[in-house]
Amino acid sequence: MPIPKSEYLSEVWKDDIFNNKVVFCTGGAGTICSAQVRALVHLGADACILGRNVEKTERMAQDIATARKGARVLGLGAVDVRDAGAMGKAAERCVQELGGIDFVIAGAAGNFLAPIAQLSPNAFKSVMDIDVLGSYNTVKATLPYLLKSAAAHKTDGKTPPKDGTGGRIIFVSATIHYAGAPLQTHVSVAKAGVDALSAAVCIEQGPRGVTSNVIAPGPIAGTEGMERLLKSGEEARKASEANIPSGRWGTVREIADATVYLFGDAGSYVNGEILVVDGGSWHTGMQP
Ligand code: HXC
Repeated sequence: MPIPKSEYLSEVWKDDIFNNKVVFCTGGAGTICSAQVRALVHLGADACILGRNVEKTERMAQDIATARKGARVLGLGAVDVRDAGAMGKAAERCVQELGGIDFVIAGAAGNFLAPIAQLSPNAFKSVMDIDVLGSYNTVKATLPYLLKSAAAHKTDGKTPPKDGTGGRIIFVSATIHYAGAPLQTHVSVAKAGVDALSAAVCIEQGPRGVTSNVIAPGPIAGTEGMERLLKSGEEARKASEANIPSGRWGTVREIADATVYLFGDAGSYVNGEILVVDGGSWHTGMQP
């Protein structure tokens, strides 16, 4: 049964805005990234998703391909973002099979709860390596293709290019490092690094037409962190939602819509930004 469109995309976008575009996404079999890619594929893009688990990644690629007739979605499993060589080969394979790379989503991340006293150096390093080194490897592997796409799509800004946009990166980050969060030292430090990486790419590659932005999701239903909280019962969810200015957890559709905005013509002048999609949560200083 294909996932209904309403679960990953709102009605406001035209169905063909990403025709002939290719998105390369790490962590593509995960809850948030798969929704982002599904939305882009629905709107015309082809996709290459990467993950460490072969079966999960290939299955997700097939599933995402059902979002649009004729969609090509490549699932590359057994690719670890920490391995620069493997990432280079994955980008080459994407270009060989799908013709280029116009958009990149750097979404691969590591996460578990652990107090700093019980966090081993290797545990800290594992998350830093997946999030920070992995995001850097993703940029390095795809930048030549993004530059090509950016050059092909660059305009004076007054009129949108006829065939849409290209040369855009989104890093998936978080908000937990803004105020500090218990049990999340490793993730907080790593996500701060990801935010810094995006800003540096914006400054350095902006003049060549590449945009680099961050989406920072807040409490999104269906993600591992929120599922963990749900296990504590419905009361835990209600208590969490009571602390959120918008009064509820967000949905993966709301992250996918933010992605479409940043990759589409509407987001052409947004560069180096962090788009927080959290119902106002981080302003409260409380963890969901
Ligand atoms: C303490 C842990 C641990 C845990 C692993 N380690 N899990 N320490 N508590 N729950 C330690 C291990 O003991 C080991 O240290 C080190 O981490 C590396 O473990 P490996 O099993 O060798 O891991 P590796 O294959 O490198 O993978 C690292 C991983 C990864 C981070 C544990 O498997 C992972 O991330 N899994 C979950 C994926 C996930 O949840 N993705 C969603 C991300 S969402 P020692 O010292 O023993 O060698 C996200 C959103 C963030 O990131 C925002 C949050 C609000």
